[in-house]
Amino acid sequence: MIKDDEYKDRLQSTLGEYLHWYFTDKSFLHSIDWMGIPTRKLVTDVWVYQEIIFETKPDLIIEIGSLCGGSTLFFAQMLELIGNGEVLSIDISHDYFMANHPKIRKITADCSDRAVVEQVKDLSKGKRVMVIHDGDHTAEAVERDLKLYAPLVTPGMYLIIEDGVVDLLNPRSKTGEAYSSGGPLKAARNFLREMGSQFELDMRRERFILTTNPKGYLRRKPSENVNV
Ligand SMILES: C[S@@+](CC[C@H](N)C(=O)[O-])C[C@H]1O[C@@H](n2cnc3c(N)ncnc32)[C@H](O)[C@@H]1O
Repeated sequence: MIKDDEYKDRLQSTLGEYLHWYFTDKSFLHSIDWMGIPTRKLVTDVWVYQEIIFETKPDLIIEIGSLCGGSTLFFAQMLELIGNGEVLSIDISHDYFMANHPKIRKITADCSDRAVVEQVKDLSKGKRVMVIHDGDHTAEAVERDLKLYAPLVTPGMYLIIEDGVVDLLNPRSKTGEAYSSGGPLKAARNFLREMGSQFELDMRRERFILTTNPKGYLRRKPSENVNV
């Protein structure tokens, strides 16, 4: 039984300490499930996803990186609730993927493979498309994938770059950098610099403060023409 003083001690911790614990205590991180399937998400971000999906009602959610599929199942069930759309899970391996839902379609391949990009372009034609990048988190890979998949995001829809928090909270790093050449936060910053005429940062999606996706909620400006 936890004592009141222990609750008070917990409440003394900073947001940074909390996030650090959330992502470094593996037994805790690996205990997070959506409907029984492991899900690598912060609960506040999951709420934000629900808001975005309800507001934008995508025809297609492209998820790059699904791992066990808890997040994929969550997206599929949200789409089922709003009565529209399907999820495309692209992952190098679906060996650990446990989600099973009629709204989930899978492509098992490296997302940067040209043939895969062409296949996804075909599947996106005429649809209102949202893209979530939760694959390889090195800045180099994120930048490569954004070049390939950001053009598929249709006006008014979201491009979400997951896990920029790794740039800020690496326990092994003295400098605060998670990767020697940067991670998703660096990629998001560079992308916004280059593509700011087409995409805008939606800081309202970070209003809970607790997010793993700093500068990660991008929206394609609505004035753009449908691109695919
Ligand atoms: C952080 S996990 C995804 C977590 C999942 N979205 C969730 O919220 O539970 C990253 C996944 O990206 C996949 N991945 C890494 N590089 C990839 C690539 N180049 N193409 C496709 N998938 C990739 C890995 O196989 C892994 O399953």
